Amino acid sequence: MRGTRLPATILGVGGAMLALAAPALARPRLIPAPPHRPALHRFLGRPGPSPWPVRPQIGAPGLGDPFFPLAGNGGYDVLHYGLRLAYDPATGVLDGSADIAAVATSDLSRFDLDLSGFTVGAVSVDGRPASFTRDGQELQITPARPLRRGLPLLVSVSYSGAPTPITDPDGSIEGWVPTTDGAFVVGEPQGAPGWFPCNDNPRDKATYDISVTVPDGLTAVSNGVLRSQRSSRGRTTFAWHEAFPMATYLATATLGHFEVAQATVAGVPSYVAVDPSQAADAAPALAELPDIVSYFSSVYGPYPFDAVGAIVDDAPDVGYALESQTKPNFDRAPDEFTLAHELSHQWFGDAVTLTTWPDIWLHEGFATYSEWLWGDHTGQFTPQDAYDYYASLPADDPVWDPPAGNPGTPDALFSDSVYIRGAMTLQALRVKVGDPAFFRILRRWYLGNRYGNVTTPQFIALAQRESGQNLGAFFNAWLYQEGKPPV
Ligand code: TRP
Ligand code: ZN
Repeated sequence: MRGTRLPATILGVGGAMLALAAPALARPRLIPAPPHRPALHRFLGRPGPSPWPVRPQIGAPGLGDPFFPLAGNGGYDVLHYGLRLAYDPATGVLDGSADIAAVATSDLSRFDLDLSGFTVGAVSVDGRPASFTRDGQELQITPARPLRRGLPLLVSVSYSGAPTPITDPDGSIEGWVPTTDGAFVVGEPQGAPGWFPCNDNPRDKATYDISVTVPDGLTAVSNGVLRSQRSSRGRTTFAWHEAFPMATYLATATLGHFEVAQATVAGVPSYVAVDPSQAADAAPALAELPDIVSYFSSVYGPYPFDAVGAIVDDAPDVGYALESQTKPNFDRAPDEFTLAHELSHQWFGDAVTLTTWPDIWLHEGFATYSEWLWGDHTGQFTPQDAYDYYASLPADDPVWDPPAGNPGTPDALFSDSVYIRGAMTLQALRVKVGDPAFFRILRRWYLGNRYGNVTTPQFIALAQRESGQNLGAFFNAWLYQEGKPPV
């Protein structure tokens, strides 16, 4: 989230607003079970293992995303990452070892992982040493024997070095970003290879065990639940487990001086880690966290994961927050809207994830709309107030371009129009189809797609089904046409 704050005039409108009845469909809270073998079931309908890899292929170096064509790799699908990391802020060196369990989707003589920087020590595949070469972000691995389509493989990579933050097309930084007392670790859209070897594409979700060893006194915070915390010889190891499918860009391992408050929120463990320098400023927003989670649970459907929380660091060079799965990262103390934005991404972004990056409005438009719902729920302003304010802006205002559904180039991924025009699209849809159909669309979108990947045409099809209206021209005008839409 960045740069999308509503003006104080909108924030201050308060009292006079109608209390819009966002449907309160509260249900008994159950800790969700991780989906059964989320990645494996994608293989059930495929041909079985090939008898022998007769003509094994070289796995493609990328998956052809329109914005990041080399991100991700062909020929396999990751099920689980086991990462063991050690970091010493005094030296800035990260020592890593990654065990990656995958399934081959082709017969492979060679395949790639994405990794930026570092010295790779050794690579093995299924326990046998493998040879490797480096080519940009591609770590090219040649296993001792060809791999067979449909069979599991275990890749182990040891690596070491001072991580280099990755610079995005828009000039912002991500990956492993050193701070004064540790590191701020965020990966959207392409930062994950800056700290672990991976199949860096949001389509290849996997589960994770991430353990991080740091000097005693520092805390390392990662996704999911804390399995153990052990100290020995001046160092402490934090072992975290993410049981739900997670896109690589949502992995984190932010570390430094943190005070960690543990509690239970919406029936799951909550971990709120705060850099002491931010504690006072962050306290008011963080006090709202349980209410925000239960409010979005009532509107969208049950909270998707088995842990929740936040990481509030002091990382001023970063300039944005990120919806890291189960624990969004904040580069500074957030206000309640930024917190609500990142928490709503747990439903839209983390559980329901785009297939290709140009569909980013499915994350940012929805999270911005969630801020507006939170403004309404707390009696501060309504989504229609926000819509009306932006609708009054002139045709040459940057809020209109690029169109939310077609940012065009990767440097526009996080532009204001993606956030605001994206959220306005949802408000315009709500007015067009009415509240019952609108909230049914959002709930079905979430419940029918969580832990998977989606596209904008799928959203349009669902909205048409649920409303019984033909919405082709409507979405075309709102999402794809340049300039100010017919507000
Ligand atoms: N997804 C983040 C949010 O809005 C923002 C973000 C992630 C971002 N990576 C970025 C913004 C890189 C600018 C540059 O919640
Ligand atoms: Zn966002």
